[in-house]
Amino acid sequence: MTMQSQSMSNRVVQVPVPIIDDLCIEFPAYKSTVKALNGVSLHVNPGEIVGVIGESGSGKSVTAMLSLRLLPERSYLVKSGSLSILGRDMLAAREKDLLKVRGRDVAMIFQEPMTALNPTRRIGRQMLDVIIHHQHLSKAQAHAKAIALLRDMHIADPEQVMESYPFELSGGMRQRVMIALAFSCDPQLLIADEPTTALDVTVQRQVLLLLREKARERGTAILLITHDMALVSQFCDRVYVMYTGAVVEQGMTAEVMADPRHPYTKGLLSGLPEQVEPGTDLMTIPGQVPNLSALPDGCTFRDRCAYALPKCLERPPLIALDAFGDRKSACWVSTCEPLGQESLA
Ligand SMILES: Nc1ncnc2c1ncn2[C@@H]1O[C@H](COP(=O)(O)OP(=O)(O)O)[C@@H](O)[C@H]1O
Ligand SMILES: [Mg+2]
Repeated sequence: MTMQSQSMSNRVVQVPVPIIDDLCIEFPAYKSTVKALNGVSLHVNPGEIVGVIGESGSGKSVTAMLSLRLLPERSYLVKSGSLSILGRDMLAAREKDLLKVRGRDVAMIFQEPMTALNPTRRIGRQMLDVIIHHQHLSKAQAHAKAIALLRDMHIADPEQVMESYPFELSGGMRQRVMIALAFSCDPQLLIADEPTTALDVTVQRQVLLLLREKARERGTAILLITHDMALVSQFCDRVYVMYTGAVVEQGMTAEVMADPRHPYTKGLLSGLPEQVEPGTDLMTIPGQVPNLSALPDGCTFRDRCAYALPKCLERPPLIALDAFGDRKSACWVSTCEPLGQESLA
């Protein structure tokens, strides 16, 4: 399947790049089972920047890693659901197909580029390896491409960066190199898992502005994973809010921010001042994320929720809040009406 299919009227119909549907996975452990994903569904359209937000342990990284089958094989069990990228069934794909998808159709960047870059080799060598591996260019062509890529990332002196070892560069510069590498094969999807968490606020913003500029230029779909609501509000078109391995709310960022329907989202947003500085710790929701080896029945947010009702002993489905079905919430209380102070008196 191609990324975009043409309808009869010649109108371009967008086909989402990754489609995850009701995915449930477990990590078997000694005498227990970690239920890491409990029904995650999400998609990203070409050119869209989509955020996934949630507290630590909500299953964001597991979703990202599984999308590229980067979790150690046999460490997990897929209980149900499906996961495809550009029409390819990623759960059934063989290793050789996965190698084609990774780095060509999909690139991934992580929080700390030091772990993705080899500390003992110069940046230039590492870039050439990646470029030559995926694009069968000569060394001279690959070198020229690396320089062009770095320059395109607004790096003033690409030759010098190519000569440097990773530790000789600042964190922001390393992440620029990673973004250059990620875009080197013109991927249709870029998964960025907390890409700027290790950077200071100003550099964080510069790096994300760069990421957005390049994605918009090329029509790249971006899945931006973060625990920082301020970053979502500034950079994402749409957002999925995750809790205990499931999406509990989704919608256009502006709508979710203006009218959060799930008490968990409301909690993530509370304390979010009008003008938020990225990097502010917003996770002020009382109580703790339940143990994924012993999840309660019903709504897993129940014990932390000021709005909980007896009905919440039953698991709430993710219900569409508008006719398009883009805006959804999984909460018995809030799907009917906006959450108000007095609505649950
Ligand atoms: N390989 C693994 N084996 C067992 N449990 C895991 C493994 N990887 C992740 N988990 C668990 O899955 C849950 C979700 O983790 P993760 O996706 O990393 O959360 P997030 O990225 O949202 O902080 C956590 O409870 C984590 O401990
Ligand atoms: Mg994570």
